[in-house]
Amino acid sequence: MVFNILILLLGLTYSQECQPYGIRLFLGHYFSYLRNTQDVIRIVFNTKQECKEQFILELQENLSSEKLMISSMTYYETQLLNMTKIYEKNLTTNFTYETYIHTFKIGFGNINIEDSTSYNYTIISKVNSNQYGPYKFDVPMSESEQKILVFGDMDSNWVQFQSKDTFDWLENEVKQDKRYDTILFTGDMAYDLESKNCQQGDNWLRNISTFTSRYPFMAAFGNHDWGNNTFFDFFRANFGTLYLKEYNTEHYLNDFFSFDVGMVHFIQFNPIKIVYKNDPYNITPLIVEQMRNDLILANQNRAKVPWIIVYTHYPIYCTVPKNDQCINNFKYLSAFEDLFVEFKVDLYLSGHVHTYQRNKPYYQNATANYEQIDDVISQYKYPVQIIEGAAGTDYGEQNQTYPDAPFIEIQNPDHGVGIITIKNSTHLHFQHVTVSNNKIIDSIWLDRSSYQSTSKSQGFEISMWIIFGLLILITGISIYFKIHQGKRVKKNILGDTLTMVVS
Ligand SMILES: *[C@@H]1O[C@H](CO)[C@@H](O)[C@H](O)[C@H]1NC(C)=O
Ligand SMILES: *[C@@H]1O[C@H](CO)[C@@H](O)[C@H](O)[C@H]1NC(C)=O
Ligand SMILES: *[C@@H]1O[C@H](CO)[C@@H](O)[C@H](O)[C@H]1NC(C)=O
Ligand SMILES: *[C@@H]1O[C@H](CO)[C@@H](O)[C@H](O)[C@H]1NC(C)=O
Ligand SMILES: *[C@@H]1O[C@H](CO)[C@@H](O)[C@H](O)[C@H]1NC(C)=O
Ligand SMILES: *[C@@H]1O[C@H](CO)[C@@H](O)[C@H](O)[C@H]1NC(C)=O
Ligand SMILES: *[C@@H]1O[C@H](CO)[C@@H](O)[C@H](O)[C@H]1NC(C)=O
Ligand SMILES: *[C@@H]1O[C@H](CO)[C@@H](O)[C@H](O)[C@H]1NC(C)=O
Ligand SMILES: *[C@@H]1O[C@H](CO)[C@@H](O)[C@H](O)[C@H]1NC(C)=O
Ligand SMILES: *[C@@H]1O[C@H](CO)[C@@H](O)[C@H](O)[C@H]1NC(C)=O
Repeated sequence: MVFNILILLLGLTYSQECQPYGIRLFLGHYFSYLRNTQDVIRIVFNTKQECKEQFILELQENLSSEKLMISSMTYYETQLLNMTKIYEKNLTTNFTYETYIHTFKIGFGNINIEDSTSYNYTIISKVNSNQYGPYKFDVPMSESEQKILVFGDMDSNWVQFQSKDTFDWLENEVKQDKRYDTILFTGDMAYDLESKNCQQGDNWLRNISTFTSRYPFMAAFGNHDWGNNTFFDFFRANFGTLYLKEYNTEHYLNDFFSFDVGMVHFIQFNPIKIVYKNDPYNITPLIVEQMRNDLILANQNRAKVPWIIVYTHYPIYCTVPKNDQCINNFKYLSAFEDLFVEFKVDLYLSGHVHTYQRNKPYYQNATANYEQIDDVISQYKYPVQIIEGAAGTDYGEQNQTYPDAPFIEIQNPDHGVGIITIKNSTHLHFQHVTVSNNKIIDSIWLDRSSYQSTSKSQGFEISMWIIFGLLILITGISIYFKIHQGKRVKKNILGDTLTMVVS
């Protein structure tokens, strides 16, 4: 009898310790420059214990032939996040938190992206046959329009329930099977991830799986995410996204990542050390260089991926009184502003201020040229800037707007989220929704057709000049050749043409 109860109890603890929680999706390196076809979608979850080789992932796919195809995956990566160890030598902290993070990487070997883009997935325990799911994901399609959710500054501390209306709204979108290609989270979650011995972050993971099990969650690094030692340990391990190793240095942990979804190139960067004036190792030039190199590549790919959206936690223009960042970010981040102008970035999204705010295109604290007819903004020389920091948090100021300023187009204090719809290569639609009543309270279009036509005609002109130049060159060569008729001379001319091409 006692023995039976013991076994029962053991079984119970075992299944609890191995119960998946915090189920979440991320876009894999198929969407970064690596274009890795074995890493399209990542399905990630945590368990309290290691639970080695215990899980199977089952994918169900609805083929166009109306046949249901089921495939199973048994391989996943497991990573231990041992906060006890990380803070072991720190006498001022007392962490005793461990969690195991499991990652299934779904690649083209497992899914048939040609035939269908929606998949159901179920996590199955081999030990007790418990099933978790079915959940669902969509592979972002490259051809038709894209829809993206954007929000930030959100907790799940059910004390003042400030984020409850946003959670409810998101849950409803999932219930209605709305399709979003990804969530851009503009930073600051759980307030703070490592508070209360990381229980805050652990609860947050459990709570967000309502919507992160359905939509990929691509998070920017917020100042409330950086943890007790400012190394973002909990954040990196649990929300780790598409870092590229070559920029990792001792003092710069490579927070930068970028990815393409359909017609948009997204760039996330983390200037925390710059805006808090705490950059003893001067990593700023490294982030600027990384951003520049990324934008060069993105611009070369512009015919295919015309839109460029930069997101981060920190706004460049805001009006929180006496706030150093609101006053000076345009100076601190001026090297980035210059890149946005040079490479014609379309949209700059941030959080940090707990409100919704849409700004005019602004550059170095002054209006940048743009045209607006009704709700259509075009010929902008600088990105439109939007603050989406109103998802709800118990921390800091609530339901506020801030003093007006020449750059502010609209502010709204109510909890809400942004929805970006990329209609086609020239038109992007942005809407801000108040979550409590699902009302759209702000809506604009970006029209980049002027850039498209100028870059096209520029391209055309350039190619005409090249052809013209080549014609002259060929004529020159043939005349020269006719006069001199020798192999040595021919070699020299080839040398000259080569230099010309390079310059
Ligand atoms: C996916 O799951 C939903 C909800 O359980 C179900 O209605 C649907 O039939 C499933 N589709 C496939 C393709 O398995
Ligand atoms: C599969 O897709 C077809 C067509 O879209 C739909 O009618 C059917 O209900 C789906 N079946 C399941 C099991 O999801
Ligand atoms: C986590 O780190 C602590 C402190 O170093 C150590 O005692 C513990 O065994 C570690 N846990 C695991 C599962 O390795
Ligand atoms: C950490 O925990 C130990 C044991 O519970 C306790 O003796 C010590 O005072 C704690 N240290 C701090 C800084 O809270
Ligand atoms: C959500 O977080 C709260 C505390 O912030 C916690 O009490 C609750 O259990 C969490 N929800 C789930 C489903 O774990
Ligand atoms: C670090 O954690 C300790 C205890 O866990 C807490 O007292 C302290 O405020 C934390 N410091 C920071 C900077 O979060
Ligand atoms: C130890 O923790 C304190 C705050 O709790 C923090 O200021 C300090 O940077 C930490 N030291 C290390 C080496 O992580
Ligand atoms: C930026 O412009 C505002 C007016 O919009 C002005 O009040 C402020 O002094 C300017 N800041 C600097 C540093 O020039
Ligand atoms: C902020 O607004 C939400 C509704 O969006 C409301 O539930 C909450 O009570 C308000 N909070 C405060 C502090 O006014
Ligand atoms: C792009 O979408 C906009 C808005 O729906 C539309 O007015 C425009 O004609 C479309 N352009 C092309 C090339 O389809």
